[in-house]
Amino acid sequence: MSIEEIAKQMVVKGKGILAADESTGTMEKRLKSVNVECTEKNRLHFRETLFSSGSMKTCISGVILFDETLRQTSSSGASIPELIKKSGSIPGIKVDKGAKLLAGSDKEKVTEGLDGLRERMEEYYKLGARFAKWRAVYSISSKHPSEQCIKSNAHALARYAALVQEAKMVPIVEPEVLMDGDHTIDKCYDVTSRVLAECYKELAIHNVNLKGTVLKPNMILPGADCKQRATTEEIAKKTLECLKKNMPTEVPGVAFLSGGQSEVEATKNLNAINKINDTSFHFTFSYGRALQQSALKTWAKSMKDTNKIQKVFDHRAKMNGASTEAKWNEKLEQSFAA
Ligand code: 13P
Repeated sequence: MSIEEIAKQMVVKGKGILAADESTGTMEKRLKSVNVECTEKNRLHFRETLFSSGSMKTCISGVILFDETLRQTSSSGASIPELIKKSGSIPGIKVDKGAKLLAGSDKEKVTEGLDGLRERMEEYYKLGARFAKWRAVYSISSKHPSEQCIKSNAHALARYAALVQEAKMVPIVEPEVLMDGDHTIDKCYDVTSRVLAECYKELAIHNVNLKGTVLKPNMILPGADCKQRATTEEIAKKTLECLKKNMPTEVPGVAFLSGGQSEVEATKNLNAINKINDTSFHFTFSYGRALQQSALKTWAKSMKDTNKIQKVFDHRAKMNGASTEAKWNEKLEQSFAA
């Protein structure tokens, strides 16, 4: 399949991406929150339970994996990428090495991982991955994000994207403007606009084929501590407006991150965006926490009850799948009886 075809398949209507690429450090935090020891066996068990659930076939177009998981073998003997492919879903790989302190700036971060990336991509392709992810983070405060932070992260994202396409894989370009802080929704709009504009400027400089990319942005939201809350309609309207203004039309679609929204909030907001979508872009999800939170809690309590865990995950995946077609509603949400 060409990268343009893969990208289209990643954002196909009715499906979205499961971001299960938490680094071992992040997984440690997630498992600690449900009182489970963070061992390699436990990480594999939880992830394999999700990857073998029914909704993988119907609602999940791709799965982002961490290096460790891409190399693991499932209990059936198949490798994890094979298990994912068996459901008709595409295996992907997180390739950045994390956001590190940006020298010369005050507490801001730049994502690292370009050294040796060409060689790593070659290996990831052999292991079955067909798309990749690189996440840049931007915080909002009276002095952030700085021009330095916006420019250096955009440059790294573009160099990553070019290397990924060279390896015949699709880069997910993820510039995440964080929700932390008390900024207004309009401030988030402005910052996200500046960040996206710079990213697309750099992607053009690096000759990245936009038809073979997927954008993974934040939605336009007020800061978590902002007293002025926004309605779902306002979030949808501003998110759509911001993306229309800054995304070149060649990009096939957007797979949003959830970034700390609750599970239902993330579903509801995506549904509202699709309700008013008057563009040719496909809007879907690439959620980590907003797809896994309830399933993780259920798993921690009833680790041996695969059916129960998968039922919880399937419901969340189905709700998000419905929201990609603006078909989600409260009644559908309530249809799940645990
Ligand atoms: P969240 O949906 O939990 O924000 O995670 C998505 C992700 O992949 C972050 O890089």
